[in-house]
Amino acid sequence: MESNIGSALDNASCPIHNWYKFTAGFSYKFIDKIVDDLDEKPHRIYDPFAGCGTTLVAAQEKQIPSVGNESQQFMCDIINAKLNWNIKRQVCDEYIKGMLDTISKNQDRDIDKEYHPLLVSLYDPQTLKNLYLLRDYIKNIEINEYKLFFELALSQTLHKSALHPIAVPYIVRSKNLSHSGDAIGKFTTIVYKMLNDLETVKGIKRTALVYHDDSRYKNAKIKDGSCDMCITSPPYLNNLDYGEVSKVHTHFFGYTNNWHDITEKVRKHLVTGSTTHYVDSEFKMDEFLQTEFASKNEDLIKDLLPKYEILCAEAKKRKGKKSFNILMMEYFRDMYNVLKEMRRVLKTQSPAYLILGDSAPYGVFIPTTKYLGEVAESAGFEDYNIIKIRSRGHKWKNLSHRHNVELSENILILH
Ligand SMILES: C[S@@+](CC[C@H](N)C(=O)[O-])C[C@H]1O[C@@H](n2cnc3c(N)ncnc32)[C@H](O)[C@@H]1O
Repeated sequence: MESNIGSALDNASCPIHNWYKFTAGFSYKFIDKIVDDLDEKPHRIYDPFAGCGTTLVAAQEKQIPSVGNESQQFMCDIINAKLNWNIKRQVCDEYIKGMLDTISKNQDRDIDKEYHPLLVSLYDPQTLKNLYLLRDYIKNIEINEYKLFFELALSQTLHKSALHPIAVPYIVRSKNLSHSGDAIGKFTTIVYKMLNDLETVKGIKRTALVYHDDSRYKNAKIKDGSCDMCITSPPYLNNLDYGEVSKVHTHFFGYTNNWHDITEKVRKHLVTGSTTHYVDSEFKMDEFLQTEFASKNEDLIKDLLPKYEILCAEAKKRKGKKSFNILMMEYFRDMYNVLKEMRRVLKTQSPAYLILGDSAPYGVFIPTTKYLGEVAESAGFEDYNIIKIRSRGHKWKNLSHRHNVELSENILILH
């Protein structure tokens, strides 16, 4: 396997895969590599963490049916936009004409009150006005496929016209972007680039489906044993807050408005992946040890408990006092539920391929990939093996605030 397979690097130069810049993505070549090596194509691929749609788009290019869950509405919209390949240039031309016309007529409209304060600090005033005027025009487009298509182009415009990088993975105010501004110019360029990209998939039918659903629970719309392969990249145990990552977009499009909204509408529906997902005082170890996960994973719990204590002690010594101890427990419990649901959706003996990174919060090594292999066995898989893709983490060796534990990124294969 190539070492870049776990990163979104390849996607940046690939039509459609590059329609949305997603820091947490992985390479579309991962799907190609797995499927192209087979004598017989899978009948239906499952992705419980659809993200920006890498698995579903790659499967559709090969005309392999696929189904995924993604619990962020904003990401579901991106995925659907990337899967609708029947968008007509002529129809887009008409909409663009309407947009430009409306925007020039509405330059005097007093819309400042509608701006979200976060965005005011990230765009120059003219750019911000045009972004909001574009948003309002697109919101009223009646044909959903075109609405999603233009919203995705506008999401990219948010990245490209900002004064500072807005998702690496969070906002970086200390860095200025040299090509900020010009929302309209960037938006139209992006739209026509997307239309050109669609020429490469002309005539290919839609074969992928995405549900706005939480993969920790049963999605009754996906039948038992209805898929014969899973290809996915779950959230890593690395404290990445997906709610924070997308907040410029979710505030702009009106899905969220503040921290509380992000917690209720985004974080609560995700696998626990960061310390912002829960309230520390609500975690009760005695109750945790009574859960199905704990009773089915006694050996793992024996490994986790000493790490839990070390992480507790480390947190007391550190300024941020982050409860990585709780995060670790909740993460594995959530992933147990995801793996149980995955087992249900897959036919017996069908393989699952998961791209995963190991973790070292406060320098405490957690072999996440191996542990998830064990959790998968407790959730009904027969066995697992691990292929290492690359080492990570050592580049931080010289920075005193980072650990120097060498981590690896791996593929966990479940059978
Ligand atoms: C690492 S990203 C996946 C990257 C993705 N495979 C790609 O390359 O586009 C994880 C994604 O899973 C989603 N997610 C996290 N917890 C989830 C859950 N319980 N159910 C469904 N989706 C979830 C997040 O919103 C995020 O988009």
